[in-house]
Amino acid sequence: MKQEGRGGVSERILLKGGRVVDPAAGRDEIADVLIEDGVIVSADASRSGASVVDADGLVVAPGLVDLHTHLREPGREDKETVETGCRAAALGGFTAVSPMANTEPVADTAAVIHEVRDLGARAGLCDVFPVGAITRGLGGEEMAELGEMVEAGVRMFSDDGRCLPNARILRNALTYAKAFDGIVIAEHCEDGPLAEGGQMHEGYHSYSLGLAGQPREAEEIVVARDLAVVRLTGGRLHLCHLSSAGSIEIVRRAKAEGLRVTAEVTPHHVVFSDEDLGTYDTNFKVNPPLRTPEDRDALRLALADGTIDAVATDHAPHAVEDKEAEFDQSPPGTIGLETALAAVLTHLVEPGLLPLARAIEAMSTVPARILGAAEHGGPIEPGRPANLVAFDPGAAWVVEPPFASKSRNSAFLGTTLRGRVIHTLYRGDLVVADGKAQR
Ligand code: NCD
Ligand code: ZN
Repeated sequence: MKQEGRGGVSERILLKGGRVVDPAAGRDEIADVLIEDGVIVSADASRSGASVVDADGLVVAPGLVDLHTHLREPGREDKETVETGCRAAALGGFTAVSPMANTEPVADTAAVIHEVRDLGARAGLCDVFPVGAITRGLGGEEMAELGEMVEAGVRMFSDDGRCLPNARILRNALTYAKAFDGIVIAEHCEDGPLAEGGQMHEGYHSYSLGLAGQPREAEEIVVARDLAVVRLTGGRLHLCHLSSAGSIEIVRRAKAEGLRVTAEVTPHHVVFSDEDLGTYDTNFKVNPPLRTPEDRDALRLALADGTIDAVATDHAPHAVEDKEAEFDQSPPGTIGLETALAAVLTHLVEPGLLPLARAIEAMSTVPARILGAAEHGGPIEPGRPANLVAFDPGAAWVVEPPFASKSRNSAFLGTTLRGRVIHTLYRGDLVVADGKAQR
């Protein structure tokens, strides 16, 4: 689906007849979207010279934005590179991703941030907004040079994979971040000593499978601690991949109190539970662990009512040989960029647990806002950059390799999902057309 450049001056694409679902504008209607030189223009404008992309039967939405992605470059390019991760993202309908800092070396300097951004720009498949480490080397002791990373474009800082070991370092980070506009500190909530050795959620299934458990209190204790520090500092905190019903209650109270907190949930935590670990399939070994069906149901409700703001993939690629190790030796993580939208559509939207507009809001509009990514998340209006996804909400497919990701440790492997990304437009460029990556 190549569009004809008009003498290299102006490129026009007409996305025709799709159902435009645009939460930022409160819009849900059949409409055409005309794009010229990467920017949305009035659909009433002259259509001559536009290449027509048929969107009949498709949902047209602002491109998805992932707040939590592991791209592994630099350091573990055998698992994922910025380019392969961005291709997986584009195929999943994402126009922006936020790679986490737990690379080798850690993204705790402007140099590493620039490297990752440059690799993203070279791939040209979506925007890459690197997350900077809060502490040097993710060591939890000495604060990294947040200022130089802010200058390099960082908007979110996190020691993800590690939890800040004490309230003092969080206090310093939240206080320091307040000096900059729009900076957010994100926390992976896990009390280290309490969680240590835990292979899955601690409960009936961990006992019966003979695996060491990790209690939900390991998360809840840190959520409570961190929100107390938010109160103390007046800072702004984002809570990564919440997994427990108890955490939700703490966040609900904090929001009612007016604390500046946002939270995310992953597709795998709203679809699966500890009941799925019976086969010892290491693709279900994730951190935080899949908890009980009651926790999962609480997460679903919290996403619907806005207590949880956003869906984030926690795309965590791992090598086959690592994931094939014994359960207690296998690293935690599932890939997720290529399945996130379909997982949410199949397991939440289709059964009526989440309105489609709220799903798109939680996967695009809200994460864009949390990240300060002003060119993403809609509204789909004249003058806005054309970062868009068009998907077929009913198309069924089986999750199986090959993936665009270099890894294939998907918790969704072998399952049937409905919802297929057909086109992804990144700054007006059809980076995915007819379900295929164009570069
Ligand atoms: C993450 C990874 O692999 O980098 N794994 C995961 O299961 N989420 C790190 C982490 O956040 O624990
Ligand atoms: Zn994490």
